[in-house]
Amino acid sequence: MAVLEVKDLATYYYLGGRELKAVDGVTFDIDQKRTLGLAGESGCGKTTTAYSIMRILAENGKIAGGSVNLGGLELTTLSDEEMRKVRWKKASIVFQYAMNAFNPVLRIGNQIVEVIREKDDVSEEEAIMTVSTLFDEVGLKPERQTDYPHEFSGGMLQRAIIAQALACDPQLIIADEPVTALDVIVQNKILDLLRKLQDKYNLAVLFITHDLSVVAENCHDVGIMYAGNLVEVGSVEAVFKRSLHPYSYKLIGAFPSVVGPKKRLEFIPGVPPNLLNFPSGCRFHPRCPFAQDICSKERPEFREIESGHYVMCHFAGELDLGGSQ
Ligand SMILES: Nc1ncnc2c1ncn2[C@@H]1O[C@H](COP(=O)(O)OP(=O)(O)OP(=O)(O)O)[C@@H](O)[C@H]1O
Ligand SMILES: [Mg+2]
Repeated sequence: MAVLEVKDLATYYYLGGRELKAVDGVTFDIDQKRTLGLAGESGCGKTTTAYSIMRILAENGKIAGGSVNLGGLELTTLSDEEMRKVRWKKASIVFQYAMNAFNPVLRIGNQIVEVIREKDDVSEEEAIMTVSTLFDEVGLKPERQTDYPHEFSGGMLQRAIIAQALACDPQLIIADEPVTALDVIVQNKILDLLRKLQDKYNLAVLFITHDLSVVAENCHDVGIMYAGNLVEVGSVEAVFKRSLHPYSYKLIGAFPSVVGPKKRLEFIPGVPPNLLNFPSGCRFHPRCPFAQDICSKERPEFREIESGHYVMCHFAGELDLGGSQ
C-alpha cells in the first residue's frame, strides 16, 4: 500500500499580484520501502513539491489544489497545529545544507533530544538513550552527542541529520539534494546508509536530485519534472530503458554515465519557460521535436501507458524516440 499519495498537486507563489505556477499537475505514489527519485532541471518545482507535502512553503506560496495523503491522512487540509504533529513523527525532511541544520551554539545531541521530547512523552534519559542508538545506527560514536556542530565534518553532520530525521520513527523521509554538497566518496556512504535504514525502518523515501546517475543507482522509481509538471513517472528500469516522454528521453540521454557509454550527448535546444508566462498546452511543446498542433492547444493528460508507467504527452507510446537507450 502507498504510504504517500500525491494527486494533482498545484502550488503557486504570489509575486506582487502575479501568480507563479511552480507546481501544477503532480501525481505520484510511494510505497513502503520504496524510493522515488524526483529529477529535472533547476527551477522545475522539485523543492516546491517537497515543501508542499511538508507544508513548509515560503509565506507567498500556497497549495492551490490537489491532495497529499500520508498513511491515510489528508495533509493539505490539516490545521497548522495538526500539521506540526505530522512533521518528524510521520514525515521528516533532510536538506542539502547540513551546515545550517543545527543551531551552532547548542550540542547536537541536545537538539535531537529536544525534537524527540517535543513529539513523544519520554524522559530526558530515555531520549538520550534513543539518540545513542540512532547515532550508532548512522555510524556515529554515541559519545559524539555532546559535540557542537562545528566539531563535525560535512559527512558526519549529514549522518546526524539522518539520525534526527529518524528520531520520531516517521513513515516518510524526504531528502532534498541531501548529498550534493559532499564529496563523492562521502556521498556514496550516505546513500548506502539511507538504503540500509530504509529497509530497517520500512521507510518510503522521496529523493530529490539533479543527478540522474544517482537516481539510477539509488532509487526504485523515478519522476521527471518539467516546468512545474511531473511529465513521467515509473520504475527506474522502465523509464531508463524506454522513456516515453520526449523530455525525459533527452534528459536521460544527457547523462552518459546512467546507461553506460554513449555515442553522443543529447542536447535539448531552448530553455525552460518562464513560469509566470508558460506556454499553452504542453509546457514542453516549444522545445519538443515531435510537437504537433494539439500540443500547443491542449494540455496532455497524465496517462498510464504501461503498467505503473505514467506519462504527460499526447503521443506517449506512439513516438519513435530512438528505441532503447
Ligand atoms: N518563495 C518563492 N517566491 C516566488 N517564486 C519562488 C519561490 N520559491 C521558488 N520559486 C520559484 O518556483 C519555481 C520552482 O522552484 P523550486 O525551488 O521548487 O525548483 P527546484 O526544482 O527545486 O530547483 P533547484 O533544482 O534549483 O533546487 C522556480 O521558478 C523558482 O524561482
Ligand atoms: Mg530545489
